[in-house]
Amino acid sequence: MENLIFGSSVVHLQTVDSTNNYAANLILQPNVAEGTVIMADFQSDGRGQRGNHWQSEPGSNLTVSYILYPVFLYVNEQFVLSKAVALGIADLLTQYGCEDVQIKWPNDVMVCGRKIAGILIENSVQGSAMKHAVVGIGLNVNQSSFPDGLSATSLALQSGEQQDLKRVLQDLSSCLQARYLQIRAHDPRIDPEYMSRLIGRTEAVGMRTLDGTYSRAIIQDIENSGRLVVDLDGERKAYSLEEIKLEI
Ligand code: BTN
Repeated sequence: MENLIFGSSVVHLQTVDSTNNYAANLILQPNVAEGTVIMADFQSDGRGQRGNHWQSEPGSNLTVSYILYPVFLYVNEQFVLSKAVALGIADLLTQYGCEDVQIKWPNDVMVCGRKIAGILIENSVQGSAMKHAVVGIGLNVNQSSFPDGLSATSLALQSGEQQDLKRVLQDLSSCLQARYLQIRAHDPRIDPEYMSRLIGRTEAVGMRTLDGTYSRAIIQDIENSGRLVVDLDGERKAYSLEEIKLEI
């Protein structure tokens, strides 16, 4: 654990179904170094949240999965890892000059209101603690156009120049590592930092529950379990990822 270096071991694949699937198989082998990252030029079955497909122009973007052992987290605080990853990506984007970098609960990173990155974390647990995690990240880097109806952007569109994918990966690894060490040290500053980047903190956001009910509310908190906490007509309510979807 002490020699943890994100991205010090890179498995670079030309084509794979999903880097998360590849990492989930790799993690079953003994002694896979923490921070190992799987990177693919093309995913034939890239997966997103809620069973969605992750589309990415071949060779243009980062589609990567990190292998981690966040054994210092209890099962009911799994979302702390997601907070660290989202903030790490936000740090990277800020470093590359992006302004207006925000996080949309539960797993999107946005620049100027457009999605630039998505996160898919798949955990395995042992008893009441986490055992290992596959942290999948799709980050739009050099893609310059997106399918109709998709409100997306990329680092190149934001910075006005093409980026070197290997260099972006190195910088991403450093940013993620800094945030990971922060949560490993149980540093409480992560929460206010996360909340300050969260969409829906100062202006109400639209939310739709499973039964189709639409409401607007200001987000009060995100629990470490991942539940979204809002104030609805004076009543505090908490919703899990499966129960509600933000409509922004
Ligand atoms: C989302 O926004 O719904 C999450 C998207 C996560 C996509 C990444 S790309 C690398 C990794 N492998 C996958 O199959 N998915 C994640």
